[in-house]
Amino acid sequence: MEAILDSPASDRLADRYAQVRARTGALAAPLSAEDAMVQSMPDASPAKWHLAHTTWFFEQFVLGARPGYRPLHPEWAYLFNSYYQGVGPMHPRPKRGLLSRPSLDAVRAWRETVDARVDAALARGDCDVAMLQALELGLQHEQQHQELLLTDLQHALWSNPLQPAYRDDLPPPPAPASALQWQRFDEAMIEIGAPGWPAPNDAAPAPFAYDNESPRHRVLSPAFALATRPVSNDEYRGFIADGGYRTPALWLSDGWALLQEQGWQRPLYWRDDLTHAYTLGGVRALAPHAPVAHLSLYEADAFARWAGARLPTEAEWERAAAGRVPQADDNFVEAGLLQPRGNAGTGMRQLFGDVWEWTASAYLPYPGFRPWTGTVGEYNGKFMSGQCVLRGGSCASPRGHLRASYRNFFQPSARWQFAGLRLSRDAA
Ligand SMILES: [Fe+2]
Repeated sequence: MEAILDSPASDRLADRYAQVRARTGALAAPLSAEDAMVQSMPDASPAKWHLAHTTWFFEQFVLGARPGYRPLHPEWAYLFNSYYQGVGPMHPRPKRGLLSRPSLDAVRAWRETVDARVDAALARGDCDVAMLQALELGLQHEQQHQELLLTDLQHALWSNPLQPAYRDDLPPPPAPASALQWQRFDEAMIEIGAPGWPAPNDAAPAPFAYDNESPRHRVLSPAFALATRPVSNDEYRGFIADGGYRTPALWLSDGWALLQEQGWQRPLYWRDDLTHAYTLGGVRALAPHAPVAHLSLYEADAFARWAGARLPTEAEWERAAAGRVPQADDNFVEAGLLQPRGNAGTGMRQLFGDVWEWTASAYLPYPGFRPWTGTVGEYNGKFMSGQCVLRGGSCASPRGHLRASYRNFFQPSARWQFAGLRLSRDAA
């Protein structure tokens, strides 16, 4: 135990804890208390709720693991438990916007106190291995919520007729024209997925991966060709101009029904002039060569069919990304654009950052999947029904949170994430 706590890894954990928590605070800093409590739809949560829920996670699963720990506000657990039935009951998700109390100031004060307690526990060295692992999970969890805070906020501010900007100082994204090419992959038996985390018996420390990324396993990958970049706004405009939203033969049945029910004619946040869209910087001109975003799976799938292609499977995507890691110049939240940008490079590019890429793969367990033990086993496994996998991360994702095996998942109807697509097609 002491060897672990005295190691540089423990120091790094304390540093990372401080950095991740500070980033969440910085993302929420421009918000008023009124901004922070809006819930514009059941799928999205108020920013204040994100600030509180991530704090609850550390108190529940890290500090609370120590016998005798007394939470600061035991009655708040009901408000800020998201979906962990093993912990106790929870406030209904669609009603998170009703929580005018606790105040934003009170939530921020709670964050500070919990941070001080975590810091003290790390400094004292009285965290056991399970607590340190829960702390790592809590950091990864908070990074996920950083992205959701932004995407939920975008939806909330867009829902206000004034459509105010989250920040007025966001620079326009560079988006040079860039030819779409195809990279061929021959048929092969490949391996996808990540080794399990934590490693059995906490042997050699394994890099973090969610339980849904393991076990690493073999997949037969038939020959295919993958587009070297995501689909652009301009290309998507071509689909709209060609009657894409009026041609049922292009659409999955559920998607066509939803299109009619919701009156979809263009991506979420696009203006009807098809040249402007609401962004976190307010209404901006669409960069023609930037990746299209805010598509449902149904729209991405219909575009691919119109283009004579299809969505890649998640195995195809991961094969293309194998051996790659996110780079400092990829367009993640650290780039400060909060919009997808173009890329004039050559070869396979923009796999990481810019937009999440819908895949044709249902979000299902890998062969031999086992959820984590204990209540955190509810984190991923119980959602393996009715959702599809997205890969690669977006302009709102923290860079350090992504990797080639990362599996994001949303319902096919979801449009408020930075979700676009990359084309794939069968190859002879
Ligand atoms: Fe959560």
